[in-house]
Amino acid sequence: MTGQAAGQAAARTAVVTGAAGGIGQAICRRLAADGFAVAGLDLREPDLSEVPGGRAYSVDIRDAGSVRQAADRIRTDLGAPWLLVNAAGVFSIQYVTDLREEEWDRILDTNLKGPFLTCREFLPAMIEARDGCIVNIASTAGVRGGRKRAAYCASKGGLVLLTRSLAVDHGRDGIRVNCVCPGLIDTEMADWIRHDAAAMADFSASTPAGRIGQPADIADAVCFLASDRAGYLQGSVIMVDGGVTA
Ligand SMILES: NC(=O)c1ccc[n+]([C@@H]2O[C@H](COP(=O)([O-])OP(=O)(O)OC[C@H]3O[C@@H](n4cnc5c(N)ncnc54)[C@H](O)[C@@H]3O)[C@@H](O)[C@H]2O)c1
Repeated sequence: MTGQAAGQAAARTAVVTGAAGGIGQAICRRLAADGFAVAGLDLREPDLSEVPGGRAYSVDIRDAGSVRQAADRIRTDLGAPWLLVNAAGVFSIQYVTDLREEEWDRILDTNLKGPFLTCREFLPAMIEARDGCIVNIASTAGVRGGRKRAAYCASKGGLVLLTRSLAVDHGRDGIRVNCVCPGLIDTEMADWIRHDAAAMADFSASTPAGRIGQPADIADAVCFLASDRAGYLQGSVIMVDGGVTA
């Protein structure tokens, strides 16, 4: 059982942030195929042409008012979400010594405060229903340091522990909260390396899986975590990184 609630015909509603991005789009497509009614949230207009029944909502996840406005519309259009996937994110490559305060705020506000705001918005109805699921998209950068990645690593490390803390707080309310940590995935966010043939050859040669990850690799993990087959996964940190942290 995935997007259909037990004994009910109605599809479960899934909210996916970052729905216009490479990974978010793949997650939306996969969740729709699994029977979810999908609400795709992003700053940009998501392409939901391959998401049957999918609805797009313009949101800045850094802003509580914007999140609230979208949430109200989603509840009216599709009902209270059973699943929340926090996939919106931004990346930055800089030494702390060169990092402007505004850039630190942009990274932390998007990657950590955003998921806090969406969880705070959608959790109460899940708790009331004693049924719900949250999947956060963190990163390998959430479990280890990286060169010129201090702000990004701090934001993703925070997201990993936000995940685990929410699992501790709300597991007994019937909510499962887990996260996926992607390695290098073939999306716009990997533009700093994916068009450099020599760097990509080095990456593939040094990675156990021998290749860059695809958005579908992450969507598969999310759909597993959102399924009843993952019923005993709680506060888990799933590395989907081709083995780079193995
Ligand atoms: N691509 C990778 O190599 C990689 C690796 C590890 C983790 N991740 C994580 O996966 C997630 C998805 O990344 P992606 O690869 O699809 O990148 P992407 O750049 O293709 O997509 C990110 C999306 O987030 C949206 N977004 C950014 N700020 C927002 C805001 N304030 N409000 C709403 N939407 C906002 C962007 O508009 C964009 O559509 C991110 O959290 C990222 O950190 C990606």
